[in-house]
Amino acid sequence: MTGTGNVVLGIETSCDETAAAVVAGGRQVRSSVVSSQVDLHARFGGVVPEIASRAHVELLVPVVAEALVESGVEGPDVDAVAATYGPGLVGSLLVGLAGAKAMALVWDVPFVAVNHLEGHLYSAFLEDPTLEPPLVALLVSGGHTMLVFMEDYGRYRVLGSTVDDAAGEAFDKVARYLGLGYPGGPAIDRLAITGDPAAVDFPRAMLDAGYDFSFSGLKTAVVTYVRAHPDVPTEDVAASFQQAVVDVLVAKTRRAARETGVPTVCLGGGVAANSALREHFLDACTTDGLAGFLPSRSMCTDNAAMVAAAGWWRLQADGPSPLDTGAEPNLRLPVV
Ligand code: KG4
Ligand code: ZN
Repeated sequence: MTGTGNVVLGIETSCDETAAAVVAGGRQVRSSVVSSQVDLHARFGGVVPEIASRAHVELLVPVVAEALVESGVEGPDVDAVAATYGPGLVGSLLVGLAGAKAMALVWDVPFVAVNHLEGHLYSAFLEDPTLEPPLVALLVSGGHTMLVFMEDYGRYRVLGSTVDDAAGEAFDKVARYLGLGYPGGPAIDRLAITGDPAAVDFPRAMLDAGYDFSFSGLKTAVVTYVRAHPDVPTEDVAASFQQAVVDVLVAKTRRAARETGVPTVCLGGGVAANSALREHFLDACTTDGLAGFLPSRSMCTDNAAMVAAAGWWRLQADGPSPLDTGAEPNLRLPVV
């Protein structure tokens, strides 16, 4: 369907994943390729911005080529090219943006600048054609933790967000302290399966106070507890920490659904790949009679299919973005 903006090539390079995807109509994923740089950064215990930018330069063209081949769509048959312009690491963002603009120019199709956070919100839409706003979305990633009331496509209200660490950041810091390596979320998730989530009663900060979150005290509580109890099994600490995070996330999402009166809730962002969060979220939806939508794990963590999806909706709403759109490292979710 050339010329309708139907087939969007998405590009995502905001952090340490180089990703490209082809998505039709904002929902049908034709291909989604993610090249993780995790091995390059692991020995530093976190993402090194300069290494990330250089790796994006090397990986962008092969990743885009693979996404096109897998989708069966030829480059010139793409109807629009969407790329993340923020938030994220400025050097990394610039690589994806420059590549996307060049491709849009060569193929003479619209370029669309996408907000990475909006991308995470659209990941749930990719996998269920029945999902429609209004809804409440819990967006939990390495850089952000927020509860969003999505009134309609492109119309958001942020109900609450973290006052200190993001949920993923807490997973990464606690994992690092426990010697579980980087990235910490998946490591804690795996280890917690063998631990007792009730072994240590870690604090549930701000549980009854509005929609904001705080995770930095929990991280300190873990460190203090392990210092005082050096023989505690690491799997029990991991499971108990994880349970404390999940309890707060699920409780606030339920309350947001109840107080806004929406029947639909969804998850997005890397932490939404967490097994315990997924299980407790779905249990809560069943108990409360809510329709709960969970993107598959690969669509929770950074990917370009969500960027293509959000780009498609943005193109319908606002048309193409100017080619002089720059990288915006501190970009926020646009709110009404
Ligand atoms: O959305 P994402 O891929 O990148 C950002 O936009 O930040 O999220 C990455 C974060 C990291 O902090 C990582 O530890 C966390 O998501 N994460 C997880 C899991 N998988 C990734 N946290 C808990 N459990 C997981 N299974
Ligand atoms: Zn992300």
